[in-house]
Amino acid sequence: MFKRFRRVRVNPIIRDLVEESRVETRDFIYPLFAKEGKGVKKEIVSMPGVFQMSVDEIIKECEGLLKLGLNKILLFGIPDVKDSIGSDALSEDGIIARAVREIKKVYGKDLLIATDLCFCEYTDHGHCGILDLEHNSVDNDATLEITQKQALIHAYSGSDLIAPSGMMDGTVEAIRDVLDENGFVNLPIMSYSTKFSSAYYGPFRDVAESCPSFGDRKSYQMNFSNRREALAESLEDEAQGADILMVKPALAYLDIVRDIREASLLPLCVYNVSGEYSMLKAAGKAGVIDYEKVLMETLTSFKRAGADIIISYHAKEAAELLAKSKGYL
Ligand code: PBG
Ligand code: ZN
Repeated sequence: MFKRFRRVRVNPIIRDLVEESRVETRDFIYPLFAKEGKGVKKEIVSMPGVFQMSVDEIIKECEGLLKLGLNKILLFGIPDVKDSIGSDALSEDGIIARAVREIKKVYGKDLLIATDLCFCEYTDHGHCGILDLEHNSVDNDATLEITQKQALIHAYSGSDLIAPSGMMDGTVEAIRDVLDENGFVNLPIMSYSTKFSSAYYGPFRDVAESCPSFGDRKSYQMNFSNRREALAESLEDEAQGADILMVKPALAYLDIVRDIREASLLPLCVYNVSGEYSMLKAAGKAGVIDYEKVLMETLTSFKRAGADIIISYHAKEAAELLAKSKGYL
């Protein structure tokens, strides 16, 4: 006597009926990079299909996103002028503040704007906070102070979701405190709670112009060998008040996604990062894989591992594919 698993695989309708995980357009958050200027739309060589854009171009882009059913973006600011503490990120006239205000003016509540909160795009040294030169690293607690300032800049400009990505200890608590003290009790925090020091971020540093000018990020981002610590990082951010947790990168870390899914009741996001995107693109271009099929299989693996939300540069293509297919074909 053996079990006939194939009974529920005989045709597309029954396969659809018993399908356990499904990628949907509403799962996606689409990253966008705001540059100074007007009419700027510059493609990133290492990330075909991904652009740095001026705010007017981003506003046009968002119209296209909404048509595809994509109504959530993650916004990064890339200032023209950088300095040691990332002053542009702390100014209400800085690129991120203006971008959020202008996009909000046009789309209001139809579009959710998540804002990436970090300093590496804004500092001349490219690290994620204020330097501690004595230790050749980033000063955790000094960075928390400017993190609170940046959080308020995002909040007052109209961000719908604050997404701190710098991996300083105590970040979520610091942001939650300052938001609550200033009347933003209902503004949620999506923490990059378990973020690994990863070579998969390579292409992003081109688009965000955020490559560290010396050293690396290993004294604040996580060692990719550590599974228990990965869980502890996310649970700590939950305890500090995060509303949504995140694992980043996604594909090489699905075991961690599953661990966190089982240990927390919070919504869980994965960041399908730049290197993951560029690898698929390159392999598709080289003709060694069926790009669209590998893409959907990859995205589905995130859902199966336990993620609810997917930040991905593939979001537009995926939304198009989902709209074209009847789901089960
Ligand atoms: C900055 C930040 C990074 C990413 C998002 N926010 C990169 C880094 O830590 O260097 C990575 C995004 C990607 O690779 O797509 N704190
Ligand atoms: Zn950073």
